[in-house]
Amino acid sequence: MPLVHMGDMLRHAHRHRYAVGAFDLVELSFLEAIVAGAEACAAPVILSLAESHFEHYDFELAMAATVAAARRARVPVAIHLDHGASLESAVRGIALGCNGVMVDASHEPFEENVRRTRAVVEMAHACGVPVEGELGYVAGVEGEDAEKHPGEVVYTAPEEAAEFVRQTGVDFLAVSIGTVHGRLRGEPRLDLERLAAIDEALGLPLVIHGGTGLGDAQFRAIIERGVTKINYYTALADAAAASIRARAAEDPRAGYTGLMRDVRRAIRDEVERCIRLWGSAGRAAAVLAEARPWREIEHVILWNTDAGEERAAAAMAEGREKLARIPGVRHVRTGTAVDADARYRYCWLIGFSSVAARDHYRDHPVHVAYADGTFRPMAGDRVRVDYALD
Ligand code: 13P
Repeated sequence: MPLVHMGDMLRHAHRHRYAVGAFDLVELSFLEAIVAGAEACAAPVILSLAESHFEHYDFELAMAATVAAARRARVPVAIHLDHGASLESAVRGIALGCNGVMVDASHEPFEENVRRTRAVVEMAHACGVPVEGELGYVAGVEGEDAEKHPGEVVYTAPEEAAEFVRQTGVDFLAVSIGTVHGRLRGEPRLDLERLAAIDEALGLPLVIHGGTGLGDAQFRAIIERGVTKINYYTALADAAAASIRARAAEDPRAGYTGLMRDVRRAIRDEVERCIRLWGSAGRAAAVLAEARPWREIEHVILWNTDAGEERAAAAMAEGREKLARIPGVRHVRTGTAVDADARYRYCWLIGFSSVAARDHYRDHPVHVAYADGTFRPMAGDRVRVDYALD
């Protein structure tokens, strides 16, 4: 069970002063290369999916593959929604299998950032999912030239950061100390004193966005000062693109698979370089020993009714539609027994992201109204058991 609590993973990194790579993926080659790179280094890793990239792929389909990859990985993995734009994005990310979410309202004034972040924290914590907020503004766009999107970098102020954490309850904080998203000319100038002061004031895992372009010594310096999650994308995308260009030059008649032949290797090499540099190589066993496995819950109800097939089908359709929207619900499935003599004719299989999510669901007004108004009156004969899935 290599999917683990992201909070436990990052607290381990924070205590031992190393950083876990949060690599953004935009398609299957990235996913395979990131997991393979982490496995080759025996390192914990965060599979990160940025909302700003959703125009390039289908988030739901990518999440199905990401969850499958995490489950079969030999290293501890967390799945993170990167740069979530809204409460709805965070709910959707959790429903699809993210066990960490970022809410990025860093472009908003302090009060509005607090308000939006706190709303996500309340929802996500009720589902047992930790939250990353951002204070200060990291300019630029992942995968593009930084100077094309100059923006105004707003540095994070240590006192304000402490107040932000206090008011929002975030588990991790992304800070702005001079990095930018995207491709840079030369190394950025980092305000390391500021970072040290933030680390001192907060004592919780800090996150750096815009990892591409930092020099080796800069990485070491930020990790010494409390950075435990490094977001990284552009350099992986550039390695992939360089590999495709090289293949096209080598074989101008190459088809799609021919052009893509070396992409996974190129991404993986860069992932491994980062993992070794950031100190997470060789930490997988220690993290697995300490971090709680992320265990999803299956809520199983077997039931009968005297109301007839048609009303049972209508009730199940209503439940599938309403209950799936409750935060922390991963799926709502219903079924009818294959054999006519089955002890119970109908079933519900409702997946939750965690026990906390199951508890939250029980008292949620949408569930209470549906259960008391529609389901329970017609399903007197029923059994219910909740299973923590292995
Ligand atoms: P880079 O693309 O600059 O590495 O930044 C990635 C990032 O911060 C994603 O959130």
